[in-house]
Order: sequence, then C-alpha cells, then structure tokens
Amino acid sequence: MLRLARRLLLALAAGTALSAVPAEAQQAFPNRTLTVIVPFAAGGPTDTVSRLVAEAMGRDLGQTMVVENVGGAGGTLGAQRVANARPDGHTVLLHHIGMATTPSLYRRLAYDPVGGFEPIGLVTEVPMTLVARNNFPATTLAEAVAIIRRDQDKLNYANAGIGAASHLCGLLLMKAVDAPMTTVPFRGTGPAMQELLAGRIDLMCDQTTNTTEQILGHQLRVFAVTTQNRISALPNVPTSAEGGLPAFEVSVWHGLYAPKGTSAEIVTRLSGALQVALRDPRLVARFRELGTDPVAQDRATPAAHRAFWMADIAKWRPIIQAAGQYAD
Ligand code: MLT
Repeated sequence: MLRLARRLLLALAAGTALSAVPAEAQQAFPNRTLTVIVPFAAGGPTDTVSRLVAEAMGRDLGQTMVVENVGGAGGTLGAQRVANARPDGHTVLLHHIGMATTPSLYRRLAYDPVGGFEPIGLVTEVPMTLVARNNFPATTLAEAVAIIRRDQDKLNYANAGIGAASHLCGLLLMKAVDAPMTTVPFRGTGPAMQELLAGRIDLMCDQTTNTTEQILGHQLRVFAVTTQNRISALPNVPTSAEGGLPAFEVSVWHGLYAPKGTSAEIVTRLSGALQVALRDPRLVARFRELGTDPVAQDRATPAAHRAFWMADIAKWRPIIQAAGQYAD
C-alpha cells in the first residue's frame, strides 16, 4: 500500500499525468471488498478452511474478504470463474489438490487449468479419514475392507465430483481393496456428509476438517487416517498402514490463486496477507482442532506454491493415466 502511494506521489511530483500511471497503481490495493471463490458447496472442508483464511486475511488487508461457493464439476466451475475474473487482485481462488489432478483428469476445459492462474501461496495440508455411516457393520479397517469386497455392488461411496479429494481418495481406496463401489457425486462433501449422517450413504473418504467433530461426537464410524503417522486430533484412529492398506496415503494440500495477469505487486501483497493470516492464533487453534496446521511461512509464497503445484501435477499424471478414468 505504502509502496503504491509512494510511486503515485513520485509520479505526480515528476509531472507525470495520472493517465500514465497504471490503473491499479492509481488506486491503492485493495480498494474494495475481496472475494474468495470456493469451488465446492458451503459447509465442506474447503469452505471451512477458506472462511478462516478469508477472515484473517481481511484483517491484514483492511478490507472485508467474502467467500462465494461455486461448486460443481469437481471444482472446475469455481476454478473457471477465477481464471476468467479481472486480474485486479480482488477475486481469488482457494482450492486444493484438485488443481494438480484437473490438468490430467479433464481434457476439454473452457479455461487453462495451469496457465490461467498466478499462485499466491500454499495454505495447509489436510489429512483424510475413511468414514462410514454409524450403523455400518464394521469397527476396524480390516472388517470394513472385507465388507467392501463382499458387498461392493451394494455399497455407495460419496465424493464431490471427479477431481475432488474425496474422488482421488476413493480411487486409491478402491484400487487398494480391488473393489469398485457405486460412487455418488455431490457439489461438495458438506452436503455428502449430511447424507452419510442420515445413513443414506455408506462410505466416504473426507478431510479431517469435515469429519473430526462428527468422529469425536460418535456420529459416524472411522476406520483410518490416510497419513503416515497418527494425528493428534484423532489419536485413537489408526493409520491406513496400521490397518493393512499401505498403498492408501493421501494428504490434501490447499493453495490460494489469483487470475493470470495479476501484477506481481498485488500477488506479493496477497501473499503477505496470507502469511499473516497463517500466523493468526485463532486460525492456528481452529486448524489444530480440525486435525491440520497451516503450512510453514516459507511455503506460503508464490515461488514455493508454484514449485509444489508443478511437482504434484507431474506426480498425479501417471496415476490418473494408469487408472484410465477421465472426467470428459
Ligand atoms: C469439499 O470442500 O467439499 C471437498 O474438499 C470436496 C472434495 O475435494 O472432496
């Protein structure tokens, strides 16, 4: 903000006409409410993370940061909204691992899933949990696997569309147990959770930010966390490896993006506000209650985010090609 004001004053002092000063420099950034597009329905894990980040970033930016849920098509509708937004820094996308799988899963998109964005910084990496309706007839992962293998054509598995974290986790699960189940897509795992709690969905793999409170409240069955080590928020939940499924590990990283063409100055300002937000004690405490932590400060930078994102695209491409399951 100060740098922009100083540039403006220097330009005016040099007699430069205002018209020669880039438009965005004429108005300090941010100069109005900002919008975080969440590419899944309200009430789900991405929405939960985004609302905590938006509130803390807004405090640092001095402008309200609202969350708008644009669900559908595995998160690609929301991503497309931001790819097509004005690159003035007031519209950003908070999305997860889907940004690494979409380039391989979707072959005919109306936007560039990589070139359409400027990475601002990583946010958090969230563990996943394999959960079932509360009256599912299994209490351990081994028992659940036996039932999935026996009743696979009778069981339904919820996800948030092709490319969603719940879809990827389901791919890995069904490959690990060699038993395809009927999948039921939702616009987010927020609404899917309601159906699981009502007993109309049998199984789901979802992030701890959407399952921890239901697990601790004994509202659903939990069989494993999909991480190498147990997590402090759910110390009694075994890892998938402890339950006999070592091939089944997935952690859902989240990042913040601006549309391509957003100035480096604005991206830097947004990254600075993200780093402040990730140090906010209220955000850190709430993340921890929900089984996750903010990334280290040096990962909440555009360069670190871009490097991680590109590497994850390369990691998932052969996995998706081997599964041969594409969205279009
Ligand atoms: C959500 O926010 O609804 C989930 O992240 C969707 C998913 O990726 O499974």
